[in-house]
Amino acid sequence: MKKILITGGAGYIGSHTAVELWNSGMEPIILDDLSNSNEDVLHRLKEITGKQFVFYKGDCNDQSLLEKICTEHRIEGVIHFAAFKAVGESTQVPLKYYQNNVGSLLVLLEVMKEKGIHDLVFSSSCTVYGQPDVLPVTEATPRKEAESPYGNTKKICEDILMDYVKSKPGIRVISLRYFNPVGAHPSSKIGELPIGTPQNLVPFITQTAAGIREKLTVFGNDYDTSDGSCVRDYIHVVDLADAHVKAFQYLAEKGSDFYDVFNVGTGNGNTVLEVIHAFEKVSGQKLNYVIGPRRPGDVVKTWADTTKINQVLGWYPKYSLEDSMRDSWNWQKSLG
Ligand SMILES: NC(=O)c1ccc[n+]([C@@H]2O[C@H](COP(=O)([O-])OP(=O)(O)OC[C@H]3O[C@@H](n4cnc5c(N)ncnc54)[C@H](O)[C@@H]3O)[C@@H](O)[C@H]2O)c1
Repeated sequence: MKKILITGGAGYIGSHTAVELWNSGMEPIILDDLSNSNEDVLHRLKEITGKQFVFYKGDCNDQSLLEKICTEHRIEGVIHFAAFKAVGESTQVPLKYYQNNVGSLLVLLEVMKEKGIHDLVFSSSCTVYGQPDVLPVTEATPRKEAESPYGNTKKICEDILMDYVKSKPGIRVISLRYFNPVGAHPSSKIGELPIGTPQNLVPFITQTAAGIREKLTVFGNDYDTSDGSCVRDYIHVVDLADAHVKAFQYLAEKGSDFYDVFNVGTGNGNTVLEVIHAFEKVSGQKLNYVIGPRRPGDVVKTWADTTKINQVLGWYPKYSLEDSMRDSWNWQKSLG
């Protein structure tokens, strides 16, 4: 079985990707420092897959640890999820973000070179597009100046990968630009576990419905959109996880020194109010929400053109927005 190292594999997207890799005949080896996740995820992954995945608790910036993992296992590819992702926090402590998000990629590339590991899938983000001038966003849409240090780390990491591949180190790399991951595994055994106040819409919705938060504030209903609230492309996390499997299958067909980027979204934009109404429909709950002022820095609307990933990787999303809301809600309820 092909062994794939998943850095940040105990986290939200990493844990779902571990399941999809396993289902497609690859063995995940998980490295996570648990700075934003819980070791309990490993037991839950076993409940879903029947397999106790190999787990290393440690920092992806720790070169000797990465070397040890790659000595103990014949790693054939890496998915690099490990990063800090709180946009607001990144403006308060930017160096923490540059150190972790950019630093860990550099260490990883060194070890991949040393150990002869060729394939890498990198977690990038639609934040690299900022507020796009033309919609939907294709991979050729120009990247904008990043609006936060977090967004900048993704842009810098993409540039590093592009430059590195040009130097012909013999590796093959795909950057996946995620739009807005939502939902949870249909088993309700894994899902998003935000620490503290959720930064993202859907966990805020489910926590409000569960009575953990008093109410949800919709930041603005006077934008130039169908109902005035912001538009995003919400992609079910299991579909997103599957895109990583397809990326590895595609890399295996490529020659060395290959780099490409793909959007991962549904190709549809939904407003914040549409998401709330989809949640209300599947949960049968009335959500306590209020309309607040616009939030500075918010992108008004963005959604993906997914033609490239559809045609080149043969990847298509299977889950609807309502599926995402149902799975997020079931996950929230499972937390008690
Ligand atoms: N969730 C989103 O909305 C979103 C959107 C676009 C891109 N991304 C990117 O996808 C990746 C995964 O995001 P997520 O939502 O699963 O986040 P997450 O916080 O749930 O997962 C990241 C995991 O990485 C671990 N980690 C962080 N730094 C580490 C380090 N130095 N060494 C080892 N482990 C480390 C954390 O403990 C966590 O388990 C990140 O790179 C993120 O920037 C996420």
